[in-house]
Amino acid sequence: MQKSYTDALNNPIFKMISEAAEELSVDSYVIGGFVRDYFLKRNIPKDIDVVAIGSGIKLAEKVASKLEGKPQVSVFKNFGTAMIKSDGIELEFVGARKESYNRDSRKPIVEDGTLEDDQKRRDFTINALALSLNKSNYGTLLDPFDGIADLENKIIKTPLEPGITYSDDPLRMMRAIRFATQLDFQIALPSLQAITENKDRLKIVSNERILDELHKIMLCKKPSLGFSLLHKTELLGLILPELTALQGIEEIEGQKHKDNFWHTLEVVDNISEATDDLWLRWAALLHDIGKAPTKRFHKKIGWTFHGHEFVGSKMVFKLFKRLRMPLNEKMKFVQKMVLMSSRPIILSEDYVTDSAVRRLVFDAGDNVEDLMTLCEADITTKNPRKQRKYHQNFKVVRQKIEEVEARDHIRNFQPPISGEKIMETFALKPSKEIGIIKEAIKEAILEGEIPNEYKAALEFMYLKGAELGLQRTK
Ligand code: CTP
Repeated sequence: MQKSYTDALNNPIFKMISEAAEELSVDSYVIGGFVRDYFLKRNIPKDIDVVAIGSGIKLAEKVASKLEGKPQVSVFKNFGTAMIKSDGIELEFVGARKESYNRDSRKPIVEDGTLEDDQKRRDFTINALALSLNKSNYGTLLDPFDGIADLENKIIKTPLEPGITYSDDPLRMMRAIRFATQLDFQIALPSLQAITENKDRLKIVSNERILDELHKIMLCKKPSLGFSLLHKTELLGLILPELTALQGIEEIEGQKHKDNFWHTLEVVDNISEATDDLWLRWAALLHDIGKAPTKRFHKKIGWTFHGHEFVGSKMVFKLFKRLRMPLNEKMKFVQKMVLMSSRPIILSEDYVTDSAVRRLVFDAGDNVEDLMTLCEADITTKNPRKQRKYHQNFKVVRQKIEEVEARDHIRNFQPPISGEKIMETFALKPSKEIGIIKEAIKEAILEGEIPNEYKAALEFMYLKGAELGLQRTK
């Protein structure tokens, strides 16, 4: 006898769908992510996919009419789907179909089909699992491609020959890698090969969808799993060539530099242990991209990457623009992190002076903790002695930041003396002297010559004015 999984269907919504389907004399099944995540014992997703052997739209309308408050049905006629939002759940209805795809777009040509036709056209065996909502076999699992075994063996496999599945909808190449990263699954070898073979088909996928998957990979526990798969399948070079350009170790006259690609992936994994902030993770991914274009070999000093932080921060803009990512404060944050990514390292290598810390806090402002998190993640040395030393040094820098901040309030620095006050004191019209005095006050505070206070700054202003030969009005 077939096992029944009625406990997966304990939400009363399923009984309601079942009744609605019976009234319409169509069969219906829950399919996709909901069923997969039930068997994986993951958090039950908020979106539930239902397939009807008949019209999905009609079933949605029937269900909506039975639901309290009669929620609106959003119908997507072109796709033959309909969606209802109810009680924080998104129910998506679709009629079972056979599909074939046009080579130049992701839009399928749709024909009605059986449940198995519908399962066949899905992306992965683990996403093709269906639970029956029909009275006769309520809760029965329908798994013609042995998705359950693939769940147990942690394998991503396609129901059809992988070349067909990926070519039909090339977004699935990204999805395969995203699921492998999220679930810590292996992609079956033929699937992996098919992704490489079909990699150029990614160009028919919109940037938005690619980014969506990339962000999901970035937010995984160990993003390097996904990035190494993207690299292995050669998709990464199409999406982020700036990153693949970092791969490789060059050796001249016995001097080598580290492989900055694999180093970067380690940094991303490290930072992911410390933060869930997507944009700080992006900063980690991009912190070294300026190293490829700035790499030089000098006979005396060996390999250098002078100015890579500056070049890298400029590259961030181009990269965001190309991928149609938001060119807003998120991008500016990533740029700032890349630009400043070596600053705390220089600090931690040396004796840490208060003035250097004040300058760091002044330049980083509210992002100083994020910057420290990035720099700590950047420690990838395998030498335990060095690793301990660097972490210890950063601890000292963090402590100093707190001390200096408590005393000097440099974060979000506001000049203690305004331009108006300077003009009034020396009877000046707008002129370059005002800028000179303001800058001198700021410098004196950052250098620790005077405290960040009004009175001390006023005295300093008098002195500076005298130095410039200015007369005081009072
Ligand atoms: N699907 C597919 N090909 C795609 C996208 C989706 O075959 N390119 C199918 C899969 O059966 C999938 C279902 O549609 O399970 C629902 O898709 P979606 O909601 O995007 O994914 P989920 O599997 O629910 O997982 P997640 O929410 O994590 O994306």
